[in-house]
Amino acid sequence: MRAGVECVYAQAGGAALRDGKPALPDETRALCDRSDAILFGSVGLPEYEGKPLAERPEYALFLLRRDYELYANLRPVRLFPGLESASSLRPELLKDLDLIVVRELTGGIYFGKPKEQRTGADGMEEAVDTMFYRAPEIERIARVAFELARGRRKLVTSVDKQNILETSRLWRRVVERIAPEYPGVRVAHLLVDNAAMQLVRRPAEFDVLLTENMFGDILSDEAAMLTGSIGNLPSASLGTKGTPGKQFGLYEPISGTAPDIAGRGIANPTAAILSAAMLLRHSLDDEAGAATIERAVEQTFATGARTADLARKGEEALSTATFTQRVLSFC
Ligand code: IPM
Ligand code: MG
Repeated sequence: MRAGVECVYAQAGGAALRDGKPALPDETRALCDRSDAILFGSVGLPEYEGKPLAERPEYALFLLRRDYELYANLRPVRLFPGLESASSLRPELLKDLDLIVVRELTGGIYFGKPKEQRTGADGMEEAVDTMFYRAPEIERIARVAFELARGRRKLVTSVDKQNILETSRLWRRVVERIAPEYPGVRVAHLLVDNAAMQLVRRPAEFDVLLTENMFGDILSDEAAMLTGSIGNLPSASLGTKGTPGKQFGLYEPISGTAPDIAGRGIANPTAAILSAAMLLRHSLDDEAGAATIERAVEQTFATGARTADLARKGEEALSTATFTQRVLSFC
């Protein structure tokens, strides 16, 4: 823990549910209220599959995102030198890979109403989810993407399904409307099915990939595999509270849990460690601290250290603890 940073632990998700509490207990919420940022573990347990959302571990995340209005989800996709062979793509396609997914996180089909399972008038089981967006929600996430692109390679690729979805037609119109305010930044539009293909065909050409909630969920898992493992990808979810560098945010690996390997000490901690780095950068105004952690992870991989998900046949796989110690030794 960095000097001056107080870290307090609280339950959420499965840990709380197993204790007979709601997915997001009041005391956890109260603690989040008085914190500068949330470093979140992963949620999801098979024993809750099929239950209504409010009784599932994921509900904790749903409430935190919604109630703190954490609409801007940033998912940087970076390939650490040496991990090329762990990627599911050929190394020549990964040269210069450096993209960031900007996922809208508090709207779309995750949150639109109605959202329910019910019995239809004819007695048949049915279910509905609603994809809903209002222009200001699209505008603010588009601005996040354009601002980011300005400091990067100046290309925003906006992903939608405007050939079919009304929300996507609104999405594209709003993005087009905002674009002229950022004259140095190019904007390209891709349909989501094509985007999924281009991500494995020419991933290095993407810079900022801007998209709505569910498309971003799906595409970021795909993008993660370019880096060798979904266990490598951190994320920041930012909202309206705070000022640049001192924004309130939630930081977490992009993946859910891995119950199949729970308790074995072999999970890849990279995404969690890099999420802590993003926390320092965006919420604690500590760019130097963030850069130190990111460099330490890079140096760790450079020594050949690999967790089980990244080790190739014949390579030694380090435990979570040993890999973490290696990273700490470079901090
Ligand atoms: C993510 C995760 C979550 C999501 C799950 C755990 C609810 O997959 O952050 O990408 O779907 O948003
Ligand atoms: Mg996901």
